[in-house]
Amino acid sequence: MMKWDDISTLDWMTPPTEVTSLDWLAAEHKCDFVGVKRDDMIGFGYGGSKIRKLDYLLASEPYRSADGWHAVGAIGSGNLVALGEAAEFLGKTLHAHCFWEPLSPGVLANLAFTAQSPSRMRYYRNRISMALANPWVLIRKRHLGLPVITPGASSPTSILGIIRAGLELAEQIRCGELPTPDMVYLAYGTGGTAIGLSIGLGLAGVKTTICAVSAVERVFSNRPLLWFQTRQALRYLQHIGLVEKRVQPVPIVFDHGELGGGYGYPTPRSLAMCNVLKRSNIELEAVYTGKAFSRLLRDLESGATKTPLLWNTARRALALPTEAWQTDLPSRLCERISDPSEQLGA
Ligand SMILES: Cc1ncc(COP(=O)(O)O)c(C=O)c1O
Repeated sequence: MMKWDDISTLDWMTPPTEVTSLDWLAAEHKCDFVGVKRDDMIGFGYGGSKIRKLDYLLASEPYRSADGWHAVGAIGSGNLVALGEAAEFLGKTLHAHCFWEPLSPGVLANLAFTAQSPSRMRYYRNRISMALANPWVLIRKRHLGLPVITPGASSPTSILGIIRAGLELAEQIRCGELPTPDMVYLAYGTGGTAIGLSIGLGLAGVKTTICAVSAVERVFSNRPLLWFQTRQALRYLQHIGLVEKRVQPVPIVFDHGELGGGYGYPTPRSLAMCNVLKRSNIELEAVYTGKAFSRLLRDLESGATKTPLLWNTARRALALPTEAWQTDLPSRLCERISDPSEQLGA
């Protein structure tokens, strides 16, 4: 039988990320525990849960031997940032296919980082124009001789990194670092994080429920898709011989109520949420983790959870870009981000 240590990784994950206990929030709501799992503290690059996925994915073929990869994402995609960091570290080129999303300081910071990483960027007006102009980057495994990374870097191989995160949390619970959370709150994009944790926690026998707070429209976050992706991941685990027994993933409930204007749009509440955890020196962002924390707080207020855990999937703050970063952008994208009508709050 295959063991975890037999699977190649890039060794980007070192010790378990800490769980920060928010005693002040627990006291305000008269409950025993409120915690945050700090994937923002992952040591490689700027951290964030994407590193867990890329640690496995980029160590596997065909990604490991390729000179670069194609990947898709919004202009402010955290996945493209993580891939840009990886490309720099591994000496590869990231071919980034980017579509528009509304501007915010976080989007601009990510875009600047991706532009200044070893990347070649191609810009599309929206997701549909990208799908029409270049369907290959969505449906093929290779494009122009290079492997394509699936959206959000979610695939059975990358999900291995998140399954391990579930096992990591289970061990922290076993050692008494935190009580078993009754709910684990996380942001849902392409599903890899939610699915990996549900399998990892299920494998370890942790009795909890995952609340997947959707940052994307229902067409991308629904039960049939979740079922399909979970089945694919479980089959892969059995195929590589990592598990023999039947695995019962922990249940996932969806929340579509925090989405607001759609993918990439912060809401007034998710923006406000980013300030709440500053008291514990934890940075959230408004497009994903601010929405997940918003639901956690609603549940605390209604008494629906007594021992919640927020899985902080976001990275740490990026270094400031050099002033001329916009010159690295495709010209149409450069014009659009300079357009006054596109500015935040316009
Ligand atoms: C900060 C953050 N949280 C959560 C997610 C969603 O993760 P997944 O695509 O695995 O559902 C993303 C995806 O880009 C992200 O950037």
